[in-house]
Amino acid sequence: MSERDARNGRGRYLVTSALPYANGPLHVGQIVGAYLPADVFVRYLRMRGEDVVYVCGTDEHGVPITLTAEREGKDPKDVVDYWWAHMKETFARIRIGFDNFSRTSTPLHAENTQLFYRKLKEGGYITQAESKQMYSPTEGRFLPDRYVEGTCPVCGYKEARGDQCDNCGSWYEAYELIDPHSKVTGGPVEVRETTHLYLDLPKFSERLREYIGGQEHWRTSVKNFVLGVIDGGLEKRPITRDITWGVPIPEPGFEDKRFYVWFDAPIGYVSSTMEWAEKIGEPDRWREYWQEPDTKLIHFIGKDNTVFHSLVWPAQLMGTAEDGEEPFILPYDVPANEFMNLEVVVDGEPRAMQMSTSRNLAVWLHEALDSFPADLLRFYLASNLPETGDVVFSWREFQSRVNSDLIGTLGNYVNRTLSFMEKYFDGEVTRPGEVPLEAREALDDVKEIEARYEERMYAGRPREALGELLAMSRRANRFFDASAPWKSRKDDPEAARTALYYCCVLLGTIAYHAAPYVPEAVQRLRTFFDGPVERISDLYPPQSYRGSGAKPLFRRVEDEEVAAAEEKLRRAAKGDV
Ligand code: 2FM
Ligand code: ZN
Repeated sequence: MSERDARNGRGRYLVTSALPYANGPLHVGQIVGAYLPADVFVRYLRMRGEDVVYVCGTDEHGVPITLTAEREGKDPKDVVDYWWAHMKETFARIRIGFDNFSRTSTPLHAENTQLFYRKLKEGGYITQAESKQMYSPTEGRFLPDRYVEGTCPVCGYKEARGDQCDNCGSWYEAYELIDPHSKVTGGPVEVRETTHLYLDLPKFSERLREYIGGQEHWRTSVKNFVLGVIDGGLEKRPITRDITWGVPIPEPGFEDKRFYVWFDAPIGYVSSTMEWAEKIGEPDRWREYWQEPDTKLIHFIGKDNTVFHSLVWPAQLMGTAEDGEEPFILPYDVPANEFMNLEVVVDGEPRAMQMSTSRNLAVWLHEALDSFPADLLRFYLASNLPETGDVVFSWREFQSRVNSDLIGTLGNYVNRTLSFMEKYFDGEVTRPGEVPLEAREALDDVKEIEARYEERMYAGRPREALGELLAMSRRANRFFDASAPWKSRKDDPEAARTALYYCCVLLGTIAYHAAPYVPEAVQRLRTFFDGPVERISDLYPPQSYRGSGAKPLFRRVEDEEVAAAEEKLRRAAKGDV
């Protein structure tokens, strides 16, 4: 996203967050990748009067779901029903405000997937071919790669996975494994021929190169990576699988197969938008967001989803645009975020470890929300978004960011301004005749900081924008200190009142820019702060500000809480839980 966009406007945006697999609870690593940055961005766009629709939903097909179901001895449908509801609730608790949270198991979505397929086929982008797959005679079915285990053909490791060896990192075809067997039953597997449908990706090479090459505003890391993949040569990609859970394929002979989960998942963004339009009673509205060329379509994702969103998905969209109907737009941006690791403190020494959901070595969001208010978690996570490189989640860092930045800098400014006003000026300050020099300087500085904040926010970098919010709060504190109303209130009460008036101007601006990060606190603030919460550039100074009954906006994070949270991770790391 570019600086050019930093203006007041009614731009039209469709923002999406990657559809999470509905097979387990959400953890902080997912939140910082695709959800919190999108939510903060969307909240800000809305405040600026942009026209935004923000959709998501669960990804309910594919091996991640069937493996979970088999492990738990459940029906896949029960697994996804349970986790869809759980995730929806967790997102609501951390205030991720989707306009619609759908799921890919709906009939509408199956219809859309089949429609995309038909259009691609009509465009000549679908081919059919035979390939070798592992088949389990005892289970009577083909096994996806992740269901097969065997001895690595490269290093001899005995528990190598169907597609990759965790010991030496080699990639191979499952049939190259030595002594391959079913991961589920342990029984033998054999190689059989099977027929699949393929998306003819090479046919899109030139158009993709041109499309991606022209994206001046994309993150360079994403752009270069994708261009490199195209230069390396694209291959046809199978879009069907030998499984029975997923969207049925409208072709004779494919009754026992389903679409590959990555074929239907991104179409879920379209389905979710249609569902939204249906729910608001304007069933055709989705078209504005998918077919009007001036809509900005922005996909927030974790970096492991990059190829699918910036290559395969655009090809799917391009390939459906040739039947004379209104074409779909292509992604305007694909902000891909890096990963979050975990700090585990062992024998007093902090160590960064990779999260592992299977070992329960993760910070689960619903549990963190049982212990801490959403705003505190949002603030810390937003200050630690993996926008430019991998980051580490640390409970100690959480404590110090919250206690020193959120409370010590921002919260403290709000408190001291409001309590001073209430105590010495009966909770009201009126507009002074003229602006004193120090106030003028503070307002100018904050205006400059605001411009930087906005540029970063429009560029889809809420972590950097948060740095500017703190800079704004520090500047405001400096103004409060320099005008020292606690001194002047005795010998020059008018000067103190004037200073307080301008403190309120700054407070309103800080609250405005804080709202996307800590929405609950700003909502509460409005119950005891009566005055415009506004950009300084848009502010028409009010006649007066009023405020009474102010309460602290945030609670501190205590040492014992950090110790308990750290202990939990330590035990998971040692395998005690
Ligand atoms: O990696 C994942 O969790 C996938 N479920 C993301 C899908 S994103 C989109 F295409 F739906
Ligand atoms: Zn190996």
